Amino acid sequence: MVNPMELIGRRILVTGASSGIGRACAILLSRLGASVVLVARDEKRLNETLKQMTGSGHTAVTFDLTDLERYEELFNRCGSEQKLNGIVHAAGVGPAIPIQYVSIAAMREVMTINYFAFMELVKWFSKKKYSAGGSIVAISSISAKVGWLGGSLYCGSKGALDASIRALALELVAKNIRVNSVVPSNIQTPMLDDITSVVGDEATRQILIKQPLGLGEPEDVANAIAFLLGDASRFITGTQLVVDGGYLAQ
Ligand SMILES: NC(=O)c1ccc[n+]([C@@H]2O[C@H](COP(=O)([O-])OP(=O)(O)OC[C@H]3O[C@@H](n4cnc5c(N)ncnc54)[C@H](OP(=O)(O)O)[C@@H]3O)[C@@H](O)[C@H]2O)c1
Repeated sequence: MVNPMELIGRRILVTGASSGIGRACAILLSRLGASVVLVARDEKRLNETLKQMTGSGHTAVTFDLTDLERYEELFNRCGSEQKLNGIVHAAGVGPAIPIQYVSIAAMREVMTINYFAFMELVKWFSKKKYSAGGSIVAISSISAKVGWLGGSLYCGSKGALDASIRALALELVAKNIRVNSVVPSNIQTPMLDDITSVVGDEATRQILIKQPLGLGEPEDVANAIAFLLGDASRFITGTQLVVDGGYLAQ
């Protein structure tokens, strides 16, 4: 039987694999036959992800993605023995901060993990030493397209991601690399719990009312990511795949 989603023999690096969407993605990719390099800071939670994966050849690498000077070391740890075939940048932070409280430190942190880290990942992945082509998927957000109270910094970081993806896709065609993002709405993860605890019950109800299909699960996003990683999406690059339960249809 043909499975257009299969990823047998592919080696995929997944950031943010210790939680939420990144964890669901690592688990799904393993079920589709990929070997996965899991990257995040928390070793214990990375190992919890590993325990839920199937197949063999997976590696957990603890790494702080805000350490932009150390990406060559990261790629030497995970991409030099067997070349990588794809990257998923699921690591991110999503703070709700009213503009009066947006500090320079917060700007640095959010832009570094959500955007600069992605640029470094793409830069190193696109070197011949670490990949011979493949597919790169970032997790953007509907926040790149719609605003919400306290979201100015986060919205900007995701908008930057999607804008760069268009240019990167064009630049990397020559290296046989596709670059896309998925655009989730509100998904049930620890990040969403953090946001709803800050904005309160009424604001949360107002957010969720906008999703005709209800609250999304991390697996809903992982399915879209797997599609963009595999050959079934070979004619798709430089674009966004919206996974929002109907949010943006209104
Ligand atoms: N949940 C939603 O409703 C939603 C909606 C749209 C888009 N998104 C996007 O989806 C992505 C995943 O979000 P999520 O909801 O799954 O969040 P989550 O459960 O909070 O997971 C965030 C992940 O990012 C990792 N991370 C954060 N800072 C890091 C750093 N400095 N270095 C390495 N890893 C770091 C965390 O790992 P460690 O703490 O172990 O380092 C964790 O694995 C994010 O980009 C988010 O913006 C989420």
